[in-house]
Amino acid sequence: MAESIAFSRSADRSVVYREIAPQVEALLDGEPDLTANLANVAAVLKEAFGFFWVGFYLAKDGQLVLGPFQGPVACTRIDFDKGVCGYVFSQRRTEIVPNVDEFPGHIACASASRSEIVVPVFDRNGDIRGVLDVDSDSLDDFGLADKEGLEAIAQLIIDKF
Ligand code: SME
Repeated sequence: MAESIAFSRSADRSVVYREIAPQVEALLDGEPDLTANLANVAAVLKEAFGFFWVGFYLAKDGQLVLGPFQGPVACTRIDFDKGVCGYVFSQRRTEIVPNVDEFPGHIACASASRSEIVVPVFDRNGDIRGVLDVDSDSLDDFGLADKEGLEAIAQLIIDKF
């Protein structure tokens, strides 16, 4: 039963990711300002899915620094080797954490956060510039649809750096 619920939720999300992609492209079209673009991407994701927290951490001066986000107040700085965000930044690949309490070194910015997905954000040269972090207040809330959908969104911003 749980599996079929997860499947249908995941299928629905795939549809929504496909629907918002052109909206995101239109918002980014012709706008070079990074902060403005990331702010709108976070807002689209928050509105489309109602995620508990969605936002960016950007590599600056040897740390990941909080960027545009939607949701509760969050940690401002994360070391490159700390938390899920630092892990993804170092590994340069997406990580899905079904239960944050089981991820060693997870940084709890909000105690309500139960699961999360973090996607690396690259520039056009393939250099990693930060991460896109999405948190849920439900356990095991992210799957392949989110990985593919969020990676596609991250791909839309590679030439904004
Ligand atoms: N949980 C993240 C920190 C960022 S907040 O969740 C917004 C981590 O462990 O890297």
